[in-house]
Amino acid sequence: MFKVKITGTGSYLPKKVLTNFDLEKTMDTSDEWIRTRTGIRERHIAADDEATSDIVAKAAEKAIDMAGITPKDIDLIMVATITPDNAFPATACWVQKHLGIDTEIPAFDIGAACSGYLYGLIVSAGMIEGGLVDRILLCGAETLTKITNWDDRSTCVLFGDGAGCTVVEKSDGDSAILSSYWGADGRLGDLLIQPAGGSRMPASHKTVDENLHTVSMAGNDVYKYAVSKMKESAMEALRRANLTGDDVDLYIPHQANIRIIEATIKRAGIPMEKTSVTIDHIANISAATVPISLDEAVREGRLNRGDILLLTVFGGGFTWGGAVLKW
Ligand code: COA
Repeated sequence: MFKVKITGTGSYLPKKVLTNFDLEKTMDTSDEWIRTRTGIRERHIAADDEATSDIVAKAAEKAIDMAGITPKDIDLIMVATITPDNAFPATACWVQKHLGIDTEIPAFDIGAACSGYLYGLIVSAGMIEGGLVDRILLCGAETLTKITNWDDRSTCVLFGDGAGCTVVEKSDGDSAILSSYWGADGRLGDLLIQPAGGSRMPASHKTVDENLHTVSMAGNDVYKYAVSKMKESAMEALRRANLTGDDVDLYIPHQANIRIIEATIKRAGIPMEKTSVTIDHIANISAATVPISLDEAVREGRLNRGDILLLTVFGGGFTWGGAVLKW
């Protein structure tokens, strides 16, 4: 158990919305196919001049406001992302600049693909409990549509852009992270990958011509592992907290496909009414999905102090995890 709590949440979705009907006009797909296979209706698209740190800053301002603090009260900034502004410096450093924080606090990014926010939450909890810092700005943010292959209908319909931020700090009361569970299997890295642009395959005319800087996914294989690991993460996080699905007041799963969510809640015994489903209007935003869904739940009054909250994630790596929080 970690005696930490989330005191502020905030999210930001870029203004431009691309619906399934818009996609019908530019490629061989249909609203019906996308909705029934994935649960997605529409996704938000970052503007050409909008980088990941820009949208993080907007979400961060809301989280900081809710927490009742100022940017200068933050001890550390962490941004989970696979679409950083640059390979370096870290997006978290740009966020520090955007927020006008001149107190020279540490800032770095977390790379665990769609599992990045939950990984960041566990890392944050360990650092706060270990006495390294008192208050962390923990964000998940992506501009995935900038690394989307718009010629591949099996992937391009799945992703969207957005940012979600949280203020994580020491808890003096009952709020806590009751349990956590995380894992990875690097043998499966090739199944969901941005092949080029790193040291394995540096950028070249050839890599650009062959669209190798975009998301490449073996959809069916990823789907099978996602179902299995999301179930495992939910069950193991609950077991470690000595709880069952009956005890859960709200479940926020990573949103990659509505069918993965349905399979997981069936296994964990959690009703759909207690499950956050945001995939219809935000699509899959990788590391941003959970903190955006969390912010929506908080602002809609679906989550109250003392509630039991279950989070689970799955993503490239493969990486996965779950956590049970007493809100
Ligand atoms: N519109 C219309 N048809 C499409 C399509 C689209 N956007 N994309 C694929 N299809 C077609 C395929 O070409 C295929 O046609 P065929 O049978 O003539 O060959 C057919 O639909 C079925 O394709 P398939 O890939 O088997 O569909 P699926 O039911 O497995 O759904 C995904 C595809 C991508 C939605 C699904 O595999 C998935 O959700 N995977 C996991 C995604 C995920 O979790 N990703 C990230 C983890 S964080």
